Amino acid sequence: MSNLPRIAHNKTVVITGASAGIGRALAFEFARRGYHLGLTARRLDVLTALREEILAACGDSTRTIAISALDVDQTETVEPVLQALFARLGGIDIMVVNAGVNAITSVGKGDILKQKQLIMTNVIGAMASVDAAAAHFIARGAGQIVGISSLAAVKGIPKQAAYCASKAGFSMYLEAARIELKRKHISVTTIMPGFVITDIMPHIEKYPFAVSAEQAARETVTLIENKKAVGIVPGYPWRLLRPFMRLIPDSLWRKLV
Ligand SMILES: NC(=O)c1ccc[n+]([C@@H]2O[C@H](COP(=O)([O-])OP(=O)(O)OC[C@H]3O[C@@H](n4cnc5c(N)ncnc54)[C@H](OP(=O)(O)O)[C@@H]3O)[C@@H](O)[C@H]2O)c1
Repeated sequence: MSNLPRIAHNKTVVITGASAGIGRALAFEFARRGYHLGLTARRLDVLTALREEILAACGDSTRTIAISALDVDQTETVEPVLQALFARLGGIDIMVVNAGVNAITSVGKGDILKQKQLIMTNVIGAMASVDAAAAHFIARGAGQIVGISSLAAVKGIPKQAAYCASKAGFSMYLEAARIELKRKHISVTTIMPGFVITDIMPHIEKYPFAVSAEQAARETVTLIENKKAVGIVPGYPWRLLRPFMRLIPDSLWRKLV
């Protein structure tokens, strides 16, 4: 962890899919900013090692880092596992719904089971995570839900039709949740990353304006702390390009992505 470790403040964040990539980088970034953490993913051994790494890096004995194994595809377990984690942490302030997968899928090649699996994780698993957090925040009277969607929700990417559909679906779910939950004092932030260098896709570093997971995490946590409704990561140049993305002719877009 770079810079001086900060002393814990009283805010707690839970992150799904914290064992790798953006989720792992978010865990370090929130820790650097003084948050207590609840980390979930399927690989408990990786989370155990991550907890030790973060505790050693921040050198703060007052810091709480609780971990839980959670497979968001096991829909009926999402709510009880998360509620148990929230209780162990004494209640939470921010829930980051980040766990997700990508897969190359082709339209018309009989890939439907692969596509169904992707929708299960990125849409149903994400919705179940949002739902559990919303129930917790309604009971507490406040909270912030953050969904890691994607700029793939804005413009279709060839060979990623199922992924784009999953993120478009999740973005719309978050938008409706934001409107629905506002009067319960719960804010909802949709984060739309461009391309972030993680293991989610081979050779992702070759995609336009790809950034490190650490840069994505820094920008994401700032957007979360500013309670943005929708945040684009990295901000430059995607915030400038986003309004035009749907205007780019398909023939040109095919060459860019
Ligand atoms: N990288 C990008 O360019 C990019 C761009 C836009 C949006 N995103 C989104 O950002 C999020 C994180 O992606 P990433 O790039 O960091 O991917 P990653 O490096 O592959 O990490 C994915 C994380 O999700 C967890 N996960 C996967 N399936 C799960 C399941 N069924 N239940 C619980 N956890 C599960 C993995 O942990 P375990 O394997 O231990 O369960 C891992 O911690 C995803 O929602 C992705 O769609 C990424």
